[in-house]
Amino acid sequence: MLTATEQREVVELAREFAAEKIAPFAAEWDRTSHFPRDVIDEMGKLGFLGMITPEEYDGMGLDTLTYLLALEEISAADAAIAVSMGIHNAIPTTMLVKHGSPAQKEKYLKPMARGELLAGFALSEAEAGSDAASLRAQATKDGSQWVLNGTKAWATNSGTADLMMIMVRTDQPNARRGAKGISTFIVPTDTTGYKACKPEDKMGLRASNTAAIELNDVRLPNDQMLGDEGMGFVYAMEGLDAGRLGIGAQAVGIARSVLEHSIRYCAERKQFGKAIQEFQAVQFKLADMATRIEAARALTHRAAARKDAGEDVTLYAAMAKVFSSETAMWVTTQAIQLFGGYGYMRDFPVEKLFRDAKVTEIYEGTSEIQRTVIARALAR
Ligand code: CAA
Repeated sequence: MLTATEQREVVELAREFAAEKIAPFAAEWDRTSHFPRDVIDEMGKLGFLGMITPEEYDGMGLDTLTYLLALEEISAADAAIAVSMGIHNAIPTTMLVKHGSPAQKEKYLKPMARGELLAGFALSEAEAGSDAASLRAQATKDGSQWVLNGTKAWATNSGTADLMMIMVRTDQPNARRGAKGISTFIVPTDTTGYKACKPEDKMGLRASNTAAIELNDVRLPNDQMLGDEGMGFVYAMEGLDAGRLGIGAQAVGIARSVLEHSIRYCAERKQFGKAIQEFQAVQFKLADMATRIEAARALTHRAAARKDAGEDVTLYAAMAKVFSSETAMWVTTQAIQLFGGYGYMRDFPVEKLFRDAKVTEIYEGTSEIQRTVIARALAR
């Protein structure tokens, strides 16, 4: 556990990096849909791709709270960069730490933590979004190899990552086993037959790389399977528990950024002879925005504390994600209103933040799925 001073230093490093290397370029990357792999690589050299990876696997071995504080800083500068960092740190890393063989940890986890390899995660398919267990991509055994075929959808980092954790069926069409028929494979993206499709043209997070993946006879040796056959769905859900905490912090970063812009704007913008911050209607809006952001941050940090204490985090991660993402959407909507006509224009930063906020209510499980997870936990 870090001391408060050490934690502040890590967060300060993230803030300085974000201010110097991300924030000045975020609008341009958004306009041109440019994924700055060089910036991600620089973050990797500073340790930001191995923040919660244990030190024995070349990570920083930090607690979840410190990681989320750093992620909030990156997200406040550009949520598109935060999602690449967040997926890598949370989902493939968690999967490998928990279930990777010693050889897989050596070959993949350690270089991932050192920032030499970027990883992603592919669960969804065109017909299997919220109902993830209905996925259809198939792996078939051929001697000492598995042969993967199918198409995955909306996978973050899939066109830029060095390796992807991919969920496919290992049960056969005549003996389907539902969630228990899914396994996880570690797929280096230079494997023959792996093809990342054209990056999606998204509403927000335009600098992040999101693409479908075609798997055409991707041949992998047995030892590219992660953990046990048939456990891939459970591993994906565990990874998503960690990932959803990151989305909570990402959403708080977006909301905080839009609040900061709003406070400045309302102090400068004059109507009816005075700064609009002097109108009570504006003050109340800003007060509600700030209060909801604090509540979202507190809930996300509470979930992080539970994770660090080794407690089950499924319920709290779902609560943190749904509350923070809906906060980000609400706060960015208020900000557009405060900015009025200017808020609707691309020249002002709040329009991008509004677009970036929306996906936090959708990916890594929609708000409806988070409520399902919460309700199921309450009924247990
Ligand atoms: N941790 C560990 N195990 C878990 C778990 C968790 N959080 N959640 C479920 N499981 C286990 C269950 O215990 C069960 O195992 P047993 O039968 O042995 O008990 C097994 O997994 C199946 O669970 P369910 O019966 O609950 O499965 P379900 O089909 O009803 O689905 C769901 C549950 C919560 C709806 C799940 O499908 C879900 O989360 N859906 C949303 C998927 C999602 O988040 N997709 C986003 C993909 S990533 C992305 O967005 C792209 C990107 O790159 C960012």
